[in-house]
Amino acid sequence: MTVLVRGGLVVGPVSAQPMDVLIDGEKVVALLAAGDASLGADLASTAERVIDATGKYVVPGGVDVHTHMELPFGGTFASDTFETGTIAAAHGGTTTIVDFAVQRAGERVQDGLAAWHEKARGNCAIDYGFHQIIGGVDDESLKAMDELVDEGITSFKLFMAYPGVFFSDDGQILRAMQSAARNGSMVMMHAENGTAIDVLVAQALARGETAPRYHSLTRPWETEEEATHRAIMLAHLTGAPLYVVHMSAKQAVSTLAQARGEGWNVFGETCPQYLYLSLEEHLSQPGFEGAKWVCSTPLRSSAEGHQDELWRYLRTGDLSVVSTDHCPFCFKEQKELGLGDFSKIPNGIGGVEHRMDLLYQGVVDGRISLSRWVELCCTTPARMFGLHPRKGEILPGADADLVVYDPAARTRISVDTHHMNMDHSAYEGYEIAGGVDTVLSRGRVVIERGAFLGTKGHGQFLRRGLSQHLV
Ligand code: URP
Ligand code: ZN
Ligand code: ZN
Repeated sequence: MTVLVRGGLVVGPVSAQPMDVLIDGEKVVALLAAGDASLGADLASTAERVIDATGKYVVPGGVDVHTHMELPFGGTFASDTFETGTIAAAHGGTTTIVDFAVQRAGERVQDGLAAWHEKARGNCAIDYGFHQIIGGVDDESLKAMDELVDEGITSFKLFMAYPGVFFSDDGQILRAMQSAARNGSMVMMHAENGTAIDVLVAQALARGETAPRYHSLTRPWETEEEATHRAIMLAHLTGAPLYVVHMSAKQAVSTLAQARGEGWNVFGETCPQYLYLSLEEHLSQPGFEGAKWVCSTPLRSSAEGHQDELWRYLRTGDLSVVSTDHCPFCFKEQKELGLGDFSKIPNGIGGVEHRMDLLYQGVVDGRISLSRWVELCCTTPARMFGLHPRKGEILPGADADLVVYDPAARTRISVDTHHMNMDHSAYEGYEIAGGVDTVLSRGRVVIERGAFLGTKGHGQFLRRGLSQHLV
């Protein structure tokens, strides 16, 4: 089927221009300026379907490279399945996710990956890829890293946090980085000093400090900065590229920026929760309410200015990507596992549906440009994780994943209207200027004015190439 998306402002990572987008089947075949008399223009005049984007932006489908559907964590499972989570993502203008397959110490990496294929296959409404968590670095798992690269799993997450769960010590990290330097893959790092944090947590609990806000107070910025610095040094030592996930402390990003200033191959990601939510306003709500905002790295103090600094780093380019770290848990029976002990609250916030909208508010407020919005949410994540040019940019030959975004729409975020499988929203009541109008995934309309028109088996597994962000 041929589709013409007509009359919109097509936004790319560098510029925005009035163009028509011609789609044939699953691919973009041409971008046509007004008055174009090319072969594409002929085809456009006979398009089987025309989508009117007059007065709207036409942006690449969002690429969210950090989600956790069905993750077993904190004594329970993340509450979105691949079906519910990818439908919610589509509603929010995200057409690609990269989720994390899990391997723990003593398990085969290949088995962990196979389990994730099993969960996702036939259940996704949009396209998906996998990173691999290596929770037990040993000879076998290091060998498996090479195998996985050949299967399109070209990035590996290591943890300096969560001792006894996913934690790797410095020697293990060094060995995994040596493997990555050799096979060309990307090391993703959860950079928090987990053993120091565990001592602070035990001391806080012994003092009777059990409320959710102590989650942040026992993970102070120093524990993030120190781990970030250590990860950068180990990466530099081995020659591996490094992507630090879910950064929330301004001091940690400053350390990353310094290394980038030296020309080192290190990159940073942040998430909407660290740009919009805070220790004071959210995590410190009365009683147990703050549990909704327990995630790691933690929400930080707005009085200390972390949020403004993260926005500044999004502008300077020292933060390269905004993902969601979507890891939803219901308040009832899931977050409640930590009643009376904050350390037992499952860590994670759900937001896969809201990333494009929330970041667009940065455009409305003048913090970032339209093109920077697209670069942070679509193009750079695709390039960083070997999906470009198929994903992340509206180009001839690319998958026809695109979003017609209406700057005149108004959206109110609420548990009553969201599509994620959660009994609360971390962003309840947020008023969004703008909104998703139409979403196409590989040429197929999956969202039209708020209605889901896709199917759960439409999403395909993406074998990813190596990162294009290696210098
Ligand atoms: O709190 C978080 N971030 N939960 C998900 C697991 C992780 O560390 O990314
Ligand atoms: Zn993490
Ligand atoms: Zn995560």
